[in-house]
Amino acid sequence: MPPITLKSAATSIRLPLPRPRGQLSAEVLGILTSGVPGARALPAAHPVSDDDLADDDDLQLTLFCLQELHYRGIEGVDDAWEWDPSAIALRRNLEDAFEAHLRGRVTVPDVAATTADGVAQILFEMTSSDGGPSVSRFVARKASLAQLREVLVHKSIYQLKEADPHTWAIPRLTGRAKAAAVEIQADEYGGGHLASMHSELFRRTLRALDLDDHYGAHVVAVPAVTLATSTFMSLAGLNRRLRGAITGHLAAFEMTSSIPSRQYADGMRRLGLGEDATGYFDEHVEADAVHEQIAGRDLAGGLVEAEPHLLGDVLFGAGACLLLDDLAAARHLAAFDAGTSSLREVAA
Ligand SMILES: [Fe+2]
Ligand SMILES: [Fe+2]
Repeated sequence: MPPITLKSAATSIRLPLPRPRGQLSAEVLGILTSGVPGARALPAAHPVSDDDLADDDDLQLTLFCLQELHYRGIEGVDDAWEWDPSAIALRRNLEDAFEAHLRGRVTVPDVAATTADGVAQILFEMTSSDGGPSVSRFVARKASLAQLREVLVHKSIYQLKEADPHTWAIPRLTGRAKAAAVEIQADEYGGGHLASMHSELFRRTLRALDLDDHYGAHVVAVPAVTLATSTFMSLAGLNRRLRGAITGHLAAFEMTSSIPSRQYADGMRRLGLGEDATGYFDEHVEADAVHEQIAGRDLAGGLVEAEPHLLGDVLFGAGACLLLDDLAAARHLAAFDAGTSSLREVAA
């Protein structure tokens, strides 16, 4: 039986306090819930090896929680921890390690571009040549209802805060790139209409599948590799020096969304599900076919035209998006192939 959380009675807007996954997360969550900052400080540094940090549950959960202090906060954690120097120092330490890890693994094409069209062309080539494993194709063709529910649990980690990590970019941008970011993000937030906000559309999908739709409800159930797709977005968004990477990430994200969204919706219809379930994905077939053009040319391209030295980071952000998505997809599909759950075992 997959360890999926069904509907809860949660009323808080905050992230439910997660269970620790190792020594570091136990120490950090213990201190964060012990009261206001000041009396105790978080550990200054974490000795990070060069193991696969995307698969490191202790590191990814700790980083996810430290970043969450800048979003909605965590149940039982005082808001003052957001700007506590020891929390910032530890977050930076973990983010620096994860970024260095990814920079050593992401393949950035050795190309030059100085125009917006040139940047968009490189990004479209990167995303179209990505022949990695495809969860959406699996859902379209043969996922069971139980496997589809697991896929939605993984997606909920980001989609319930859609599109907040990329919004951090807006005050760091100017001119054409800023206007493009606002245009895309306005759509993501439903043009100011609650029911049309993409995070709300996704909640509707979760409810249609009888899954808990509360913010962060499924963090407890997903493995490190799923958290890593979100922690990279947040680290690129939270650090102004990585404004190139967050725009490249958004461009790659949009460029790999429209066709997969159609496949997810097709898979849901194959399983007999209706518009309540498919609405989120149907919306993204059209919306992201537009967003990928804006994100490639006006956002990423406009940024490189204004700040040519950021091209490398734009491509790094796009490459990291593709790498982490492929890694997560490979893990999930391997579990399904083996007839097991892609989710963590959660103690009752
Ligand atoms: Fe969206
Ligand atoms: Fe989009």
